[in-house]
Amino acid sequence: MQVFPVSKKLFIKTYGCQMNVYDTQRMSDTLKPLGYETTADQDEADLIILNTCHIREKAAEKVYSELGRLKALKAPREDGSPGAMIGVAGCVAQAEGEEIIKRQPMVDLVFGPQTYHRLPELIRELEQDRLAKEGAPKNKKAKKLRLVDTDFPVEQKFDELVPETHPEGPAAFLTVQEGCDKFCSFCVVPYTRGAEFSRPVGQLIDEAKRLIDKGVCEITLLGQNVNAYRGETAFGKTMGLGELINEMADLPGLERLRFTTSHPNDMTDDLYEAFRDQPKLMPYFHLPVQSGSDKILAAMNRKHTRQSYLEIIHRLREMRPDLAISGDFIVGFPGETDQDFADTLNIVTQVSYAAAYSFKYSPRPGTPAVNIDDQVPEDVKSTRLAMLQELLNAQQEAFNASTVGRRMSVLMERQGRKEGQLVGRSPYMQSVHVEGPARLVGQIVDIDVTEGK
Ligand code: SAH
Ligand code: SF4
Ligand code: F3S
Repeated sequence: MQVFPVSKKLFIKTYGCQMNVYDTQRMSDTLKPLGYETTADQDEADLIILNTCHIREKAAEKVYSELGRLKALKAPREDGSPGAMIGVAGCVAQAEGEEIIKRQPMVDLVFGPQTYHRLPELIRELEQDRLAKEGAPKNKKAKKLRLVDTDFPVEQKFDELVPETHPEGPAAFLTVQEGCDKFCSFCVVPYTRGAEFSRPVGQLIDEAKRLIDKGVCEITLLGQNVNAYRGETAFGKTMGLGELINEMADLPGLERLRFTTSHPNDMTDDLYEAFRDQPKLMPYFHLPVQSGSDKILAAMNRKHTRQSYLEIIHRLREMRPDLAISGDFIVGFPGETDQDFADTLNIVTQVSYAAAYSFKYSPRPGTPAVNIDDQVPEDVKSTRLAMLQELLNAQQEAFNASTVGRRMSVLMERQGRKEGQLVGRSPYMQSVHVEGPARLVGQIVDIDVTEGK
């Protein structure tokens, strides 16, 4: 009978948003007590997990091509050890469940984002199943165990995950809110991540303290709608995101705070005030608008208008004059005319973004927008995306150029590729390259910016 090695290797490949990055770290923390050490080399892994994203068609399809490539690693190894076990986690797992195993029977395990705390139990079952098979007579084919766990909304996840052993580096993510109740008509997130849920304040403060003890000085608070955060305090009250930011800022050793992603309809006074009063909150705000046309915003079920978005930006800039804004945009939503698209270009000009993400609309199964008749042809989407990106890139370059000659505090995050080079982040999320000694990694240093692009 084959005995599994005490030390086993784990490889997790992460797709999609920062919440998946956070989840990947938590999964590897959870598997450590079972003997799994992370490796950067997938060829030597005993367990490979793809932590997937379902947001656009391309993202979801990547998973299947990656699974095709992984097939070779399933074969028993030369040293007699069995090949890798393969799991699919994340939003594709939640959306497609068993379908994944039907399309790729070599997958051993499919589990959704709310079930990561159950991972050790699922992996143990798989390991035992393999051992049983090793012992079975050769002519008797043991039934292969396939595990699918996408049970929805058990929100015990955060209560039951083991304490984190990460981070890597001085900047860390911390998920404070999950899920989405907004149901924008193009978006899969409400179906893959479930209803909005806020973690209690005490639990978050404890997690932040542990991160700080390990050398973290910058924390980015994460949520699909992070500004919808309404967390319970120990006194049975609820706290908004601005108040949570102030609580965290009081923790000794924590120097910088950020948060992402926000929704225009969840802006609260405490958040505006945090931008005005809390120096540890960085002057950078990601607020997606998606489109500049009220007709398209209504069809997207965004429930805000072009004007209400512009008013938010105006008020924020009054509170924090040096605030940099970033955004998300979708071009080619069904029914988008040349005029609607011109309205998008126009809102971009009005706001002036320091950075942005822009995408062609991708029809997602199960979302209402796929049923709208008036789909925009692919070539029109491509032309519009190129035009929008040209404008956004010019704005980003102009923003970067405007910081040349300024002195900025930069958190040194890691050594650069070149000898003697360090890479850090400015308050505005710009990546900053400087010459300097390695001992500065983890420190916040004042830098005179000499060049920007
Ligand atoms: N909760 C965040 C966004 C999460 S998804 C928010 O409301 O802004 C990140 C971005 O992906 C979205 O802002 C949107 O621009 C883009 N996106 C989502 N669904 C998409 C789709 N079907 N096609 C193209 N882009 C999409
Ligand atoms: Fe998707 Fe809209 Fe929810 Fe953002 S707010 S996650 S775009 S449904
Ligand atoms: Fe993708 Fe899921 Fe994040 S669909 S963007 S990984 S919430």
